Amino acid sequence: MSAIEVRGLSPLNGKIEIQGSKNAVLPMMAATLLARGLTVIRHVPAIADVFCMIEILRSLGCVCQLAKGVLTVDSSVVDSVRIPEGFVGKMRSSVMVLGPLLARMGEAVTYYPGGCVLGKRPIDIHLKALESLGAETYEAGGMILARSNGLKGNRIIFRFPSVGATENALMAAVTAEGTTVLSNCAREPEIVELCAFLTAMGARIEHAGESELVIQGVRMLHPCEFSLGADRICAGTYLTAALMVSGDVVVSGLNPEYLDGPLRLMERMGAVVQRNAKAREIRVTAKERPCGFETVTGPYPAFPTDLQSPFLAAAAVARGESRIEETVFEARFAAALRLRDFGAVIRLSGCTAQVEGRYPLFPAIVRAPDLRGGAALILAALAAEGASVIDGCEHIERGYEDICRDLLQIGADVRPL
Ligand code: UD1
Repeated sequence: MSAIEVRGLSPLNGKIEIQGSKNAVLPMMAATLLARGLTVIRHVPAIADVFCMIEILRSLGCVCQLAKGVLTVDSSVVDSVRIPEGFVGKMRSSVMVLGPLLARMGEAVTYYPGGCVLGKRPIDIHLKALESLGAETYEAGGMILARSNGLKGNRIIFRFPSVGATENALMAAVTAEGTTVLSNCAREPEIVELCAFLTAMGARIEHAGESELVIQGVRMLHPCEFSLGADRICAGTYLTAALMVSGDVVVSGLNPEYLDGPLRLMERMGAVVQRNAKAREIRVTAKERPCGFETVTGPYPAFPTDLQSPFLAAAAVARGESRIEETVFEARFAAALRLRDFGAVIRLSGCTAQVEGRYPLFPAIVRAPDLRGGAALILAALAAEGASVIDGCEHIERGYEDICRDLLQIGADVRPL
């Protein structure tokens, strides 16, 4: 599927069972390198980034299979230390393989990472953390080599709570000798899930979900069976769609707490939000056009940068003016330029977008600039009077298993072209 046609203004109501979390499963897949044997992960989404990580693990010697949401990784044999450059270019998260590969093999080679085009995406915090654990790193011609004669626990204070660097350091530390203390860690729910996964493999981690993690190194991890949680960003995307077109949508499978910031904002915008932690369901009902809002993205528990683009689409239909400040990724307003084609008035100044909404939007033919930006354009098309086409959907497939299937379930008029 490279394009999706959307006929806007269909009433959206119904329930969507949310796919497994992309950002949780990718580091878990990297972590399978820390155990020798067959690890099983359930509820794994069939998305391009997961397929890319499967190929990386295969290139290192693992045997992987994904069928009906069940991923098996047999990491008994790992016979390469080189993450092939082609995969690194496709997906930034490939850098997460560095820590566990180094821990297992004493050496790991990778390249500067790619992924969504979100401005400069350096990996200095990852490398510094590995160096603190005793690795030597060398960089030349876009290639990065990390080497160690056995990692050793240490105290690491991150200069910024990077999600990927926290995960990399965590995966390198669980089998390092002695105690590691990680301070100013990222606290995203996906890190809590990674801690649970590593603990199921025999790791000893204290204070999961807090900004200081304490890890007692163990000699080896063992394979485990694990069930992956739902993707909070997918859930947030679909609930935002409901908010934009006065819908009534339930997403299921997710702990509502993980979306607390965005849900509170939806309430301020006029939606009624029902959280059912026990049933793991969230219902968003919107009776009228949302009102303008202000938000600033930041590390969890602040507003997630991954939902900034969908909320930019919501701002495009909101009454009055909205203001969104992006503090995590410098170039994350690519969707804004395309949203103008739908009739929204958007002024960009540095890391701030000011938006004057209109409803309904005009239909448009646009190209998805990146993963979440692409999803945002689909949301805008759902609120446009007439037929729109979103091209470049390979970006969307990196993170949404089947966005048409999900939206059809709640009554949207969408079809892959
Ligand atoms: C992860 C998520 C991504 C999400 C982001 C922030 C995955 C697979 N991806 O990405 O969806 O948008 O968290 O919630 O989980 N930085 C440095 N040096 C480093 C590392 C990061 O300067 O070594 C900067 C980045 O350029 C960026 C900021 O820190 O400006 C946040 O990056 P980080 O938290 O590392 O995001 P990712 O792990 O790449």
